[in-house]
Amino acid sequence: MSIDSRVRAAFAAVSREDFLLEEQRGYVGDDRPLSIGFHQTNSQPTTVRNMLELLDVHTGDRVLDVGSGSGWTTALLGQLTGETGEVWGVEIVPELAEWGRSNVERYPLTWVSVIAADADVLGLPAQAPYDRILVSAEASELPADLVDQLATGGRMVIPVRGRLSVVDRRPGGHVDVRRVGHYAFVPLR
Ligand SMILES: C[S@@+](CC[C@H](N)C(=O)[O-])C[C@H]1O[C@@H](n2cnc3c(N)ncnc32)[C@H](O)[C@@H]1O
Repeated sequence: MSIDSRVRAAFAAVSREDFLLEEQRGYVGDDRPLSIGFHQTNSQPTTVRNMLELLDVHTGDRVLDVGSGSGWTTALLGQLTGETGEVWGVEIVPELAEWGRSNVERYPLTWVSVIAADADVLGLPAQAPYDRILVSAEASELPADLVDQLATGGRMVIPVRGRLSVVDRRPGGHVDVRRVGHYAFVPLR
């Protein structure tokens, strides 16, 4: 199955509504970011779809989701890896990490974990390397700490200064960076 069909199937299996605050659920069909409190958002569906297609997750991949927020992208990634994979969501706002985890736990995704990020540590180096890294907050420059957590052959999709960057770590350590469309995100802290 192509990656766009697999992403479509993941969207069908994981309802965005389960990852929204009650007062935002009436807007579930709107293609825009929706508030999840703490000045953060559940991302715009079209943006999530584009990022997941670029990320090209394979069955069985080990994946890191930086800025798991509501847990929606984390659950979508869990659908894409399937039970032979492993997904780690990290979220810097502790209350959101707890809420996002409880949202993910509505689904039987036992290979998916959501944890509160350590404010001094970007990503989750303790579980690295990852085949795929999704970052849902905007960096001012490409964070070397996250590139270091990519496996050889791994890929990261991350917004950097208003553009999405697709970062491929090649054998031998070479890193390719391709910049695609323009997107607005909350800042990576
Ligand atoms: C656009 S929002 C949430 C997107 C999320 N994937 C979703 O679908 O709900 C981005 C999240 O990144 C979090 N964040 C920002 N900097 C972070 C960091 N250094 N580590 C982990 N999370 C971070 C924010 O708190 C926010 O919840």
